[in-house]
Amino acid sequence: MKIPINVPFVGKEEISAVVSILKEGTLTSAANEGGKNVREFEKLASSFVKSKYAIAVNSGTAALQAALYALDIKKGDEVLIPSFTFVATANAVMSTGAKPVFVDILKDNYTMDPKDMKNKISKKTKAIMPVHLYGNVAFLDKILEISKKYNIRIIEDSAQSLGSTFKGKHTGTFSDLGCYSMYPAKVMTAGEGGFIVTNNKKLHDKLLMIRNHGMLHGYDTRTFGLNLRLPEISAAIATMQMKKLPKFLKIRKKNANLLSQLISDLKIKIPIERKNESVNWYLYTISTSKRNKILNKLNSKGIGAASYYTTPVHKTPFYKQKISLPVTDWASSHVLSLPIHPRVTSKNIEFIAKTLGDILNE
Ligand SMILES: Cc1ncc(COP(=O)(O)O)c(C=O)c1O
Repeated sequence: MKIPINVPFVGKEEISAVVSILKEGTLTSAANEGGKNVREFEKLASSFVKSKYAIAVNSGTAALQAALYALDIKKGDEVLIPSFTFVATANAVMSTGAKPVFVDILKDNYTMDPKDMKNKISKKTKAIMPVHLYGNVAFLDKILEISKKYNIRIIEDSAQSLGSTFKGKHTGTFSDLGCYSMYPAKVMTAGEGGFIVTNNKKLHDKLLMIRNHGMLHGYDTRTFGLNLRLPEISAAIATMQMKKLPKFLKIRKKNANLLSQLISDLKIKIPIERKNESVNWYLYTISTSKRNKILNKLNSKGIGAASYYTTPVHKTPFYKQKISLPVTDWASSHVLSLPIHPRVTSKNIEFIAKTLGDILNE
């Protein structure tokens, strides 16, 4: 694909950081507070999202699992999640023994529908995990209002929304716990990696143990945990990437704005930022009834358009559930994401817009 949907953007800074760690030889640390590079990264991450604490782990999935373990979610509990998400959201819930209960989304921005969420609350509901899909901020005002009324904890799946804000506040910091991914396709990467943010010291201290087999000093397991540690090399890459993140996000926004300007007259639904919302433009997602035709044609022209997600989680073979989620079904057959990552040039954007226009006018 000439213009891929998302690619990691690493440079000489990341390369020299990795080389110096290999030369120095400390590749990881099983200490409670983590290695030097892990701690340096955590400082940058918490200051970027304006949270008291950040805890680095080895994937976004691990971040979600650790957050669920920290809230003692277990067998017999229910966790409300959207079905229109990457399957990791549901898999993390399954790993605790709890049951994921699927909630529909809103057409506005493909995130959890607070009304449907409220209808699905039961006596067993112990947590709600809204997903800031594509970088779009979920309708947290309403979700938080409902969760407070029913005394249910919230974990934000911010895997796709690092840098997105609402009223100046970062996604992941509206609730008890926010979880991020640093998979290579994301707005910044560690190769593999993730992190959790919280303002709660108790949760922070517990998460440090959960990351490290539940140990505090070593061989003294006090709570359930696993090896969720981020290697030092990955932490060093993440540190460099975090420093570059504001620049990456600026280019994404510029590309998104240019693309919107060029395709606003076409007969498709283009993404819009709500008032007071700033999207990180992880994925620029349009919707159209001619999705499959457009997707194939764009791909044949070298444009790495992609569809997230053609199968909602509740329709995958493992989760198979006969439930009705009409907007989720609509979205899975209509959405299409276009490349706008920092390596995409203005010329590329013009080419994408022109090609899309030509296909729609055929
Ligand atoms: C919404 C969502 N949740 C969770 C994850 C899991 O992150 P990771 O792939 O780093 O485990 C991802 C990304 O892959 C994601 O997009």
